[in-house]
Amino acid sequence: MNILAIETSCDETAAAVVSDAHAPGASWVKSSVVASQDDVHQRYGGVVPELASRRHVELLPSIVQQALERADTDLGSIDGVAVTASPGLIAALWVGVAHAKALAYSINRPLIAVNHLAAHLAAVLLDGKPCPWPNLGLLVSGGHTNLYWGEAARGYRLLATTRDDAAGEAFDKVAKLLGLGYPGGREIEQRAKGAPMNAANPLPKSKLKSGEMGFTFSGLKTAVAQWRQKQPEMAVEVVAHAFQERVFETLSEQVEKSMDLLRPRALIFSGGVAANRRLRQGFEALCQRSGIAFKVPDFAWCTDNAAMIGALGLLKLRAGQKAPFDLRAQPYETLQSDFDPEFFPPVQTA
Ligand code: KG4
Ligand code: ZN
Repeated sequence: MNILAIETSCDETAAAVVSDAHAPGASWVKSSVVASQDDVHQRYGGVVPELASRRHVELLPSIVQQALERADTDLGSIDGVAVTASPGLIAALWVGVAHAKALAYSINRPLIAVNHLAAHLAAVLLDGKPCPWPNLGLLVSGGHTNLYWGEAARGYRLLATTRDDAAGEAFDKVAKLLGLGYPGGREIEQRAKGAPMNAANPLPKSKLKSGEMGFTFSGLKTAVAQWRQKQPEMAVEVVAHAFQERVFETLSEQVEKSMDLLRPRALIFSGGVAANRRLRQGFEALCQRSGIAFKVPDFAWCTDNAAMIGALGLLKLRAGQKAPFDLRAQPYETLQSDFDPEFFPPVQTA
């Protein structure tokens, strides 16, 4: 099956053609086009929703066209149109949803509504290799820091989320404090590499009580600001490294706790922050020690893209989950502590 997928939930205008009609183990991605809007939002230090949606309106038709051309296909060979319908910036989401409705209607093919967060988890399937079940899904992006529990027959449910900032947001804010560019995650990672080995780390560890599930990053961010004030001469590399290490500890503490409790067969690490090599290596080592599989998307499928929307779109199409043409975009993250087939459909295992 071939899916045309569209993503406009934030500041990337993206389209992809994704297909599962390949030899086992071959990539599902036939094409993926991502137009980043960093140039539009950089000077504001964050995404300006109105500007994001205007840019989506301008770019989306040609991005879709490019995705079809690069896949060497046309609308006649598309079996369904998948689109991010939640969560995200509402006006930005509507641009993608309206466009997807028009396309699906014009070719008389199903419209498939995709949750952006679930799609970040599904991104690990794009390499064409199955992910062992049950698994833990750690989704760490600019807007979310969520840990999920996944079972093949039931999909995913939420185990833990952030009490305040998302980890990616903390990366971006700390980068700003350190005078680095936007988006900040990549910049912090680069600078952290330059820190001397064994530099002292005065930043506090996460403040949650020992039995609690969840993440918190705002105290860490404040501690960085205070450190900067007290010691403005401290090398940016040392601060970036100290911050990144504490982020890893905060994330891995909850993951380890859940591994001990639930005994998964794999850990999925996904979302924009999963593009960070230090964090990837840290989780890979953790999985090796625990004897479970580590699944992380290719770098291209960590930050926002439409290929991951296509990956989940395919699973939903296979499960017969079509969206009605009065589908509405929904801006909020609906925190689901139960398995919800609309979020991630149960999948058949071989
Ligand atoms: O998934 P994503 O593209 O968008 C959201 O859905 O939020 O994630 C963007 C986030 C930004 O906060 C960015 O700073 C972070 O991912 N990020 C990184 C790295 N590359 C992107 N964080 C840490 N290290 C990186 N290499
Ligand atoms: Zn995202």
